[in-house]
Amino acid sequence: MTGRSSESVVAETDWDALREAARDAMRKAYVPYSKFPVGAAAVTDDGRIVSGCNVENASYGITLCAECSLVSDLVMTGGGRLVAFACVDGNGGVLMPCGRCRQLLYEHSDEAMVLDTVSGFKTIDEVIPDAFGPRQLEQYRASQS
Ligand code: THU
Repeated sequence: MTGRSSESVVAETDWDALREAARDAMRKAYVPYSKFPVGAAAVTDDGRIVSGCNVENASYGITLCAECSLVSDLVMTGGGRLVAFACVDGNGGVLMPCGRCRQLLYEHSDEAMVLDTVSGFKTIDEVIPDAFGPRQLEQYRASQS
């Protein structure tokens, strides 16, 4: 528990700046195949901004989404929890993270994490309800001992 609430995240985040950080990341996307650049940016629980862009591959299925690149940035710059998140497409407009990426983000989310979505601000639990996560693994392990 961090004590932070989703309401305070909505109120205290500079969403325009976060969307701009996502747009900066989007401009670095490597998208020779889809030509669909994506950028993502997030605020961490210690106030850092982490970001990422999509990185495609000739073997299409192993393409890295922008959120994968963001999670690598998170871990490489000291880890922590994601508190506020924005994702944009090549026009700079809000883009909804794909299903796989919602799972990726969930793993590193603060309990109060808020995402800027096509239908307004949403909590991580709203975008991936009843999520499978580390707690399920812990519960199983505990049941075996
Ligand atoms: N993409 C992302 O980077 N994140 C998403 O959440 C949705 C999809 C990328 C993958 C691929 O490079 C391009 O968008 C088209 O699917």
